[in-house]
Amino acid sequence: PGAGLADRFGRVATDLRVSLTDRCNLRCTYCMPAEGLEWLPNPSLLTDDEVVRLIAVAVNRLGVTDVRFTGGEPLLRRGLTEIVRAVAALPDRPRMMLTTNGIGLARRAAALAEAGLDRVNVSLDTLDPVRFATITRRDRHADVLAGLAAAAAAGLVPVKMNAVLLRGVNDDEAVPLLRFALEHGYELRFIEQMPLDAGHTWRREEMVTGAEILAALRSGFALTPDPGVRGGAPAETWVVDGGPAKVGVIASVSSPFCGACDRTRLTADGSVRSCLFSQEETDLRGALRAGAGDEELADLWRKAMWAKPAGHGIDDPKFLQPARPMSAIGG
Ligand code: GTP
Ligand code: 5AD
Ligand code: SF4
Repeated sequence: PGAGLADRFGRVATDLRVSLTDRCNLRCTYCMPAEGLEWLPNPSLLTDDEVVRLIAVAVNRLGVTDVRFTGGEPLLRRGLTEIVRAVAALPDRPRMMLTTNGIGLARRAAALAEAGLDRVNVSLDTLDPVRFATITRRDRHADVLAGLAAAAAAGLVPVKMNAVLLRGVNDDEAVPLLRFALEHGYELRFIEQMPLDAGHTWRREEMVTGAEILAALRSGFALTPDPGVRGGAPAETWVVDGGPAKVGVIASVSSPFCGACDRTRLTADGSVRSCLFSQEETDLRGALRAGAGDEELADLWRKAMWAKPAGHGIDDPKFLQPARPMSAIGG
């Protein structure tokens, strides 16, 4: 391992995704059960100061340039705005993004922007409030729409929208969702469902594929390949009706982007994960609380990333879903 977060396959991670809580105020059927999960106990969660310390190590010693806050639902983290403010004050300030379900964003978008947040990605799977309540088991559709609008008004742009299509539930909404996004100036991306749900109910055959999504979109729009550079981005993007608007498809399963992955992850309880699908984690919290110095923490992080697997291997017959569900890893 060298100075940055390199792995055996020549990839270098510069994009850090930090899960700030495993809790959520929605209960999306494809993510967690109605009763919720057994949440991480409070003493095992990193404090705000510990989160900022580890982000500082990543930025100042490990070459991380982008920091994304995820969950669970990161807006449930009380110290979020202060964490953003502290990270914004670091030398070599990273870009900062938030991936959220949008609930409560209407009230907090302006403060987050003021503290130094650059952009948000908001999850919204349907335009229909009744369907929304079926998918998320909560009647909060209007809050999400208000959150999207507030984010745009606060300058957290481009506001991106994430949608998961579920067969027989909302798979007829590709075109209407894109029309909605175009009307409001949001950049929509459709996500293939991955085997990361707490209930282990994912079935390859039931997944709505990127190819199906593109075919559906083409019934309403002309799509041409985006000439821009994709880099390590999970979304393959298309220019809509000649532009400038774009739409993205995140086909993580049918068209893995693992070979170009530039991500490293930190869980809410202070473990480094080299991949969404890793079977192994490296605990940093123990060392941190035992008084480890920055270089010692950086070294543990480098070693964790060196072991990053080549890819998720979902199509391998020996594929094993990670022990933690996506809500506890960070999306
Ligand atoms: P930007 O395009 O820069 O805004 O980032 P992003 O698309 O990475 O952010 P977001 O958090 O919105 O992620 C969108 C989706 O991409 C997630 O919900 C996942 O489905 C997928 N994704 C993110 N990271 C990974 C990853 O490391 N591996 C895989 N397979 N999928 C990922
Ligand atoms: N596969 C793909 N996307 C998922 N999300 C949650 N669970 C899964 C899954 N199993 C999405 C959410 C949100 C984003 C952060 O991840 O819908 O848009
Ligand atoms: Fe919450 Fe996201 Fe899971 Fe939905 S997908 S329950 S918004 S963590």
